[in-house]
Amino acid sequence: MSSSQKSNHSPSAGSANSGSSPQKTKAWSGVFTEGTDRRVELFTESISIDRRLYAVDIRGSIAHAQMLWDVGVLSENEFHQIKEGLLEIRRQIEENRFSFNIEFEDIHMHIEHALIEMIGDVGRKLHTARSRNDQVVTDLRLWIREAIDRIDRRLVDLQAAFIGRCDDDFDVILPGYTHMQRAQPVIAPHIWLAYCEKFDRDRQRLANCRSRVNVLGLGAAALAGTSIPIDRTKTAEYLGFEQIAANSLDVSSDRDFVLETAFCLTEIAIHLSTLAEEWILWSTSEFNFIRLPQAFCTGSSIMPQKMNPDVLELIRGKTARIVGNLQTLLVLTKSLPLAYNRDLQEDKPPIFDSFDTIETVLMLAAPLVEGTALNRESIADKLDRGYLDATILMESLIMKGIPQRTAHEIVGRLVRLAMEREIPLVKLPLKEFHEIYEGFDYNVFSILGAANAVAAMKSYGSTAPNQVRTQINNWKKKLDQVYRELR
Ligand code: ARG
Repeated sequence: MSSSQKSNHSPSAGSANSGSSPQKTKAWSGVFTEGTDRRVELFTESISIDRRLYAVDIRGSIAHAQMLWDVGVLSENEFHQIKEGLLEIRRQIEENRFSFNIEFEDIHMHIEHALIEMIGDVGRKLHTARSRNDQVVTDLRLWIREAIDRIDRRLVDLQAAFIGRCDDDFDVILPGYTHMQRAQPVIAPHIWLAYCEKFDRDRQRLANCRSRVNVLGLGAAALAGTSIPIDRTKTAEYLGFEQIAANSLDVSSDRDFVLETAFCLTEIAIHLSTLAEEWILWSTSEFNFIRLPQAFCTGSSIMPQKMNPDVLELIRGKTARIVGNLQTLLVLTKSLPLAYNRDLQEDKPPIFDSFDTIETVLMLAAPLVEGTALNRESIADKLDRGYLDATILMESLIMKGIPQRTAHEIVGRLVRLAMEREIPLVKLPLKEFHEIYEGFDYNVFSILGAANAVAAMKSYGSTAPNQVRTQINNWKKKLDQVYRELR
């Protein structure tokens, strides 16, 4: 088969002898007498997926070569040749001057092959004291570490989008729901801060996970370590790893860090899907609480009046992929024996996809949060529905010494009465209050109504306006600090 035919990616299922690569292109050519079946090359290649690891692969190789120079395995001149060659390869890739070919299987082989082509025998020394097994793990750890930092930054931007609304929306009271039934009133920033808390835990989870990602695997070689006198502390230092993996057998089979990261991303997606679900509902004519920015909606090809919340729906929908990716990784690693198994090559598509998806979603979520308007009148119009003040009325009775169970019953009877007449509690005459419980006086009317109910709140973390104000101030300080550190 000619080399031009080899660059065709469609596997030919026809004859058994569908072509094989000349041995000289393979790094393992020594022991083989037969070439690789073309269909096998197509099946086993990962370059189509892992080429995005090129920069971290080169970074890892330079650090490895420098360490080999430190310990005297490479000369200074050899190290510089390798380093310059690798940097030139990086430029070629970035300027689209590098040719990828599935014969070379993965990104590691591509770069090493190109290096050898460029600098000859010195390039053949780079793979000393390492294997692709510890190399791929190192690349992936470097890549995930950077990707975590990007996601973290986007989470902060999303928190800032919520905090940015808090002052303007401070006086808006919304119904809070449990079981999707009207429950108690809350002020809008209390809802915004609920999301900030969730995304804050997501950031903490990522930071914690990052510490386990940030471990040097390189130097474990294939599985048993190496007889070459390497210095892994140097490699760790060059690559900014905080720890060095202490067991060579563990290194290449360990994908905990990938799974853990995938879970962190899943939790972010789930939080975002809660937001999406709530806001989709809020944007319906039935709720009519918010108006989404038109730039974030799409129309219908048949119904001229439609403005659909597609972005929010896709944010909700893409959560499925992220959950699926986590599931894939869990099943992939189940029952794998120790050290490297080729199954592990399948870890990259799901983790890359989760990162790509969550990054795009976060990129859209922040401007969506910023650009959405609260329909204040529509919200206020319906605030007296659903007896949002019943609980606060009950609590006022409790404060008069009435046992909670009794107070609950008294208010329950009042609500039933008001429901029968289809009026809010505040519209019941005092006489009716007295009939159910004699202790009521005119003060009851200063407790009732959503605004009074909110104002009466006291506990730490509640929707009491002064509590929420304190929280907003804390968040502003915190985000200022975070942005200063990120800069
Ligand atoms: N492309 C492989 C992967 O992503 C690299 C490691 C291959 N190692 C091997 N011994 N075949 O997992």
